Amino acid sequence: MFLEFFYIFVNIFCKIKYVIIYYILGGKAILHDIFYRQYNRVELRSKSKHVAIVTGGARGIGSSIVKMLMECDMHVVIGCINTENAKMMIKKLREQGVVKGEASVLELNLKSLKSVSKFASLFNECHEYLNILVNNAGIMFMPYEETEDGFESQFAVNYLGHFLLTHLLLPRMFEASRRFTTSPRIVNVSSCAHEVSPIINFDDINMTNFYIEQAAYAQSKICLLMFSKALDRRLKRAGSNIQVITVHPGIVNTELFNGTLVKLLAPWVLTIFGKTPEEGATSVVFCCIDDSTENAGGSYYSNCFPVKCTQYADDVKTQEKLYNFSNELIKKYCSNDI
Ligand SMILES: NC(=O)c1ccc[n+]([C@@H]2O[C@H](COP(=O)([O-])OP(=O)(O)OC[C@H]3O[C@@H](n4cnc5c(N)ncnc54)[C@H](OP(=O)(O)O)[C@@H]3O)[C@@H](O)[C@H]2O)c1
Ligand SMILES: *[C@@H]1O[C@H](CO)[C@@H](O)[C@H](O)[C@H]1NC(C)=O
Ligand SMILES: *[C@@H]1O[C@H](CO)[C@@H](O)[C@H](O)[C@H]1NC(C)=O
Ligand SMILES: *[C@@H]1O[C@H](CO)[C@@H](O)[C@H](O)[C@H]1NC(C)=O
Ligand SMILES: *[C@@H]1O[C@H](CO)[C@@H](O)[C@H](O)[C@H]1NC(C)=O
Repeated sequence: MFLEFFYIFVNIFCKIKYVIIYYILGGKAILHDIFYRQYNRVELRSKSKHVAIVTGGARGIGSSIVKMLMECDMHVVIGCINTENAKMMIKKLREQGVVKGEASVLELNLKSLKSVSKFASLFNECHEYLNILVNNAGIMFMPYEETEDGFESQFAVNYLGHFLLTHLLLPRMFEASRRFTTSPRIVNVSSCAHEVSPIINFDDINMTNFYIEQAAYAQSKICLLMFSKALDRRLKRAGSNIQVITVHPGIVNTELFNGTLVKLLAPWVLTIFGKTPEEGATSVVFCCIDDSTENAGGSYYSNCFPVKCTQYADDVKTQEKLYNFSNELIKKYCSNDI
């Protein structure tokens, strides 16, 4: 009884600590966005015949990414849970006057490794190559939930699902390397929230023993960042020109913030100081198409220029450990020898 109260008390205390750190970090990130606003630009140029995938492309930052890639005359494949919503979004884009490019929709639920695997096989059946993969879908501050594969949901959606997806699509990206002169790119939408993450808890990756949703989000985003660096290293070693880049899109006013304190108490903060989804997408699309990111693999971008990530995220040993660890978790779906 006493222990239980003690546990709840410690949990609440830690949660408050995380929330405070998040708001400090968020404030810093907003200042970065405002200060460097003039750098957050991308020149949309024709990339006809290029094929791109955007996960979570039907809403938020994702839908603006889709729009911009279509304006580059690409064929964009949207992976999302609700395919009807995505089709409606495409229709809206056409009505808004986006005439270029093509868009199609395939069902993808990153909570399920089986769904990821099905999405990849459908894509691989329909397309011979893939130039750009944007791992954008994400969830934030979710109460503890276990996926059908037995993982904490933020770890599963933000990180592990994308880890598997990326590996299943790599052969198609190698093919794009052979056919095009520009380097294929994998762009992961991580977050400055990775700075909040304590060291990765490999012994309890789902955080079942002591769950704090804010910590789990930060961990999933640092995993994505570290994985990017490990994969980029492996691809370079294998002689590939595929670039793996991570990007923090900025503090963007989207439904991601539903349920957070700031949205409840002072939503105007996000409206006034936050980026619009278009501005957030600009930071992402820059990494996808700008000439300057042709060799930018392994970097972490914010507002269209490379920035530092935490020292821990840069630790090669831990990156490799995470890579091996994750490989083990998906081996039922993918035997990966990169
Ligand atoms: N907003 C920010 O300030 C901010 C800051 C840093 C990083 N980010 C990152 O930016 C990315 C996009 O965020 P956002 O702000 O655009 O959020 P959002 O508006 O909430 O959109 C999230 C997207 O993720 C998709 N998604 C969620 N769960 C999924 C699942 N299980 N399977 C497949 N797709 C799923 C959703 O697709 P459905 O429509 O199918 O549900 C939706 O398109 C996220 O990775 C987020 O962590 C955002
Ligand atoms: C949590 O993560 C591990 C990986 O270390 C996994 O094998 C396990 O089944 C997961 N689920 C739970 C509920 O612990
Ligand atoms: C993106 O994240 C996935 C895992 O979620 C990883 O396999 C891939 O290497 C990462 N790529 C980049 C560019 O960060
Ligand atoms: C977020 O909140 C808005 C406004 O209350 C609502 O319309 C929307 O459906 C919510 N989205 C999610 C993903 O919960
Ligand atoms: C990861 O696995 C590879 C090959 O199995 C092994 O050589 C390497 O030492 C491992 N790295 C870590 C950090 O565990």
